[in-house]
Amino acid sequence: MRSRWRISALILIGLLGFVFAEVPSAPRDLEVNQVNASTVKLTWERPESENGELLGYYVFKEKLLNGEPVDDHIHHEFVIADPAKLYAYVTGLEPNTEYAFRVCAFNPHGDGERTPAKKMMTGGMPPTPPRPQSVTMLSDDAPLRARIDWQVPENTYGQPINGYAVYYRPVDKLGEQDGFERLEVPGSQHFAELTKLFMGREYEIHISAGTEDGWSANATEHLITPVGVPDGEPLNVRYDIVSGQMTLQWDPPAPDRRNGNITYYRAILTPLDGASKRIDRNITTGRSSTYRVSAKHGYTFKVAAATMKGEGPFSPVLNVSPYDSVLLFASLLFKDSI
Ligand SMILES: *[C@@H]1O[C@H](CO)[C@@H](O)[C@H](O)[C@H]1NC(C)=O
Ligand SMILES: *[C@@H]1O[C@H](CO)[C@@H](O)[C@H](O)[C@H]1NC(C)=O
Ligand SMILES: *[C@@H]1O[C@H](CO)[C@@H](O)[C@H](O)[C@H]1NC(C)=O
Ligand SMILES: *[C@@H]1O[C@H](CO)[C@@H](O)[C@H](O)[C@H]1NC(C)=O
Repeated sequence: MRSRWRISALILIGLLGFVFAEVPSAPRDLEVNQVNASTVKLTWERPESENGELLGYYVFKEKLLNGEPVDDHIHHEFVIADPAKLYAYVTGLEPNTEYAFRVCAFNPHGDGERTPAKKMMTGGMPPTPPRPQSVTMLSDDAPLRARIDWQVPENTYGQPINGYAVYYRPVDKLGEQDGFERLEVPGSQHFAELTKLFMGREYEIHISAGTEDGWSANATEHLITPVGVPDGEPLNVRYDIVSGQMTLQWDPPAPDRRNGNITYYRAILTPLDGASKRIDRNITTGRSSTYRVSAKHGYTFKVAAATMKGEGPFSPVLNVSPYDSVLLFASLLFKDSI
């Protein structure tokens, strides 16, 4: 009789121990902070009553629509198996969307009480870039015009497109710190016309779509404009005479007046003695031409740049006077003694 009582009492204590073996209370001070449109950081404090060895936390995430959960069952977003870690990043959230977050602690007896839900509206995200379709020349002669067409971004994150910004510049325009032409078209327009283009140049074109939430990354396109005859003459024509050899040198026309890659320079040296023939040369490598000095009378020299479309204007005629330069050289040498 007595031992039966004892057994019953033991069973009762065991049952009570099972029923009242406590799980942790809710973590305290849950806070949600936005990191960017798709990421939040949660922070919290340890529960007031740990009720045994604290093993870690569960983080819960719920997507809300008009303040109500979209799924009717809340699920673990993830487990943190470290009771000392009091924060978590939740990534992959949708922009412009409301979420509720909760955290609970767990110990060997099980999952503790959940914190009250903390709600958070994620921020907006700029659209994905527009999708360029084609770039076509509208005219092949100056003034050049081209048209670029694109399709709307794949994702605008629920916002209408307010406008598109188009930037373009020759790729070799490195000296200038920016040098982009910029134009903007309304969101309903999916093309733009590029003007003020130079001939024979490669252009980079950037297009960005804008919504209330910002500008998308740039989509990039390229355009090579048709080659034309140069508009500009070679620059800084100069000469040098060393031991009976006369070398003429020059610089290319201004970049915006070349109208294409220079294929050769036409250099013409004309002796002024009235008897010798002029020397007409095509210079395909480098930007200089060397001659043997023979005439005492001097020469004139001019040079033009050519693209595959033809020759541009000649440089102003340069008078070359070997005799004068010898005199000048002598006068410099003997300046002190004259
Ligand atoms: C948001 O921040 C997280 C964490 O710093 C990062 O991994 C993610 O790439 C960011 N997303 C965007 C869209 O900037
Ligand atoms: C000029 O030459 C460069 C180098 O060969 C080439 O990349 C470029 O496309 C050329 N430009 C034009 C307009 O043909
Ligand atoms: C797009 O390119 C232009 C020109 O380089 C630049 O000024 C602009 O900041 C770029 N936009 C983005 C979103 O990167
Ligand atoms: C220079 O090249 C042009 C075009 O190829 C040609 O018409 C002309 O005869 C050439 N001149 C000389 C001096 O070789």
